[in-house]
Amino acid sequence: MAYINNNYLKLPGSYLFAEIARRISAYKADHPDADIIRLGIGDVTQPLAPAVIDALHRAVDEMAHADTFRGYGPEQGYDFLIQAIIENNYRKNGIDIGSDEIFVSDGSKSDCGNIQEIFSTDCKVAITDPVYPVYLDTNVMAGRTGDLQADGHFANVTYLPCTAENNFAPELPDEKVDMVYLCCPNNPTGTTLSRKELTKWVDYARNNDAVILFDAAYAAYITEKDVPRSIYEIEGAKDVAIEFRSFSKTAGFTGTRCGYTVIPKSVTGIASDGSRVQFNKLWNRRHTTKFNGTAYIVQRGAAAIYTEEGQKQIRETISYYMENARIIREGLQAVGLTAYGGVNAPYIWLKTPDNMPSWDFFDKLLTEINVVGTPGAGFGPCGEGYFRLTSFGDRENTLRAVDRIKNKLHF
Ligand code: MLT
Repeated sequence: MAYINNNYLKLPGSYLFAEIARRISAYKADHPDADIIRLGIGDVTQPLAPAVIDALHRAVDEMAHADTFRGYGPEQGYDFLIQAIIENNYRKNGIDIGSDEIFVSDGSKSDCGNIQEIFSTDCKVAITDPVYPVYLDTNVMAGRTGDLQADGHFANVTYLPCTAENNFAPELPDEKVDMVYLCCPNNPTGTTLSRKELTKWVDYARNNDAVILFDAAYAAYITEKDVPRSIYEIEGAKDVAIEFRSFSKTAGFTGTRCGYTVIPKSVTGIASDGSRVQFNKLWNRRHTTKFNGTAYIVQRGAAAIYTEEGQKQIRETISYYMENARIIREGLQAVGLTAYGGVNAPYIWLKTPDNMPSWDFFDKLLTEINVVGTPGAGFGPCGEGYFRLTSFGDRENTLRAVDRIKNKLHF
């Protein structure tokens, strides 16, 4: 008898962005002429940097000749990319990461989702609320949680509320947890944790033998000085933290696919016989068994962002999106809406008017002004009453969306 993994049945029908796409399609079917502006999923709109395009072309040409052709590469990534990552994102900031502590992948969504496989299903998980749904959903699939409760929480998960009341900085849990997911800059709130806040979490992890799963996919958007770009800027973090980084939002790779995970060898867990085991070893085993490496061509493109011209070009695109963020934030504030984020992140997190349920606000925006955003409730129970807009649209659509909110939406 082929029994199913029953844990999947605990999950709500569809993944958040699949549900949004479904609602847009349904609306489009009834209103084929609707001019819909999509500021929902955080998908980039600006082309890859010229330096990346050149590198991709050169790599394609290499594949055309027997003497430069590449077949399977190292599953962990090519050394040219790993060294560029280490030099630019770590060594330059005084952080020492070994080349066998980096694992290049097809993007950090897969890594954030798969990482839980190397932890026991008995581990107690803490996640900030609201947060990127992948962390929770993948732990539900793995059976690390109980059922979904009427209040929107899964049993046996420690939720760490992040709301305007606590300035979006989660409190330490009262109980002992083993895995803590932190996303900084946070998706969806667009807010960050200061050095002091992060130190608190690193100390907690050290004192409780916990591991922090730190998603820094939006690190390139940080503008303020006191916000760490990497958790390894915090003393002691290398013993307790795994970090996820992505080229998607940093350099427009949402469709090209490349990311990486850093697992220092000093991060360990306990085996059933009581011995200490490096998570690095387990991930290496998993990665080499289940993954055959990111395409050579793509890795060449990714490495090009670390050249001088590549850095300049990606910084220009990031500034472009951050200008969109400013336009959205100020536009919302001009009509009396409270908006957070958008300073160190490409997301604007707004309070819905009169505490309107976030899916109702989604429908209102879609049907009244044909603008799509993401309902806060989709990111966790504490996201209810909030709504996310992305600044990854193009300038013209961003301006048009803000204009519609200011002049056509009925409050
Ligand atoms: C988002 O909109 O939250 C992100 O684009 C989703 C992702 O990066 O997978």
